[in-house]
Amino acid sequence: MTARLGIITGSEMEISRILEGTREERVGTPFGDPSSAVQMGLIEGKEVVFLYRHGEGHRHPPHKVNHRANIQALSDAGVTRVIGASSVGSLRQDIRPMDFVIPSDFVSFWNIPTFHDEEVVHVTPVLDPELRRDLVTCIGDLGYTVHDGGVYVQTTGPRLETKAEVNIFKELGDLVGMTMASEATLAVEKGIAYASICCVDNYCHGLADEVFSYDVILGNQRRNAERLFNIITRVIEVLA
Ligand code: HPA
Repeated sequence: MTARLGIITGSEMEISRILEGTREERVGTPFGDPSSAVQMGLIEGKEVVFLYRHGEGHRHPPHKVNHRANIQALSDAGVTRVIGASSVGSLRQDIRPMDFVIPSDFVSFWNIPTFHDEEVVHVTPVLDPELRRDLVTCIGDLGYTVHDGGVYVQTTGPRLETKAEVNIFKELGDLVGMTMASEATLAVEKGIAYASICCVDNYCHGLADEVFSYDVILGNQRRNAERLFNIITRVIEVLA
């Protein structure tokens, strides 16, 4: 039996366009409620499980996302591989808005979440090499620009970075986001293989000539939505 695939996306998706017989379940966990109902559906008899990181109607801001409940809910649904799709800003001129990056590592100094509050467990964080390789192939097959590797720097959000912070982050990595490292860390703690599709929605603050605001990010997210949908469709066909 193949390992059951879970997918976490930032925005909601019409997964009934990809999967058959989709159904949703509201589940609870010892860590509280996950961000959204768990959506399940079949492709060629295999079940895929979806969760929306920011909830229905995008109501959970990044610093309030209950990553522990999200990963627990997927684990409870029998998921052993997770693909997380997230929006990022680019710290490098050659990683352009509308590109995709499959990061190979991350930096996350603040608010590191854990399932192990009361016992001494120290996992070694890793982004799954096999899943990473398959994601690079899937996105390349569709003809989209994909960068194989890169370091994701996680901030706590919700505000965007200052130009001074961006200058420091440029020394640390290639992308900035607010959620992926937490998700990956908890997945590893659960023994779930995890890899991420980063959608580059903007150059980080100070790196482009245009005035930087959340509106720039939102505009590119909308423009990228159909392409992300195509990628998720392909990923499910290949990996489920
Ligand atoms: N910074 C942090 N998170 C983000 C950004 C950014 O520039 N773009 C998309 N998510």
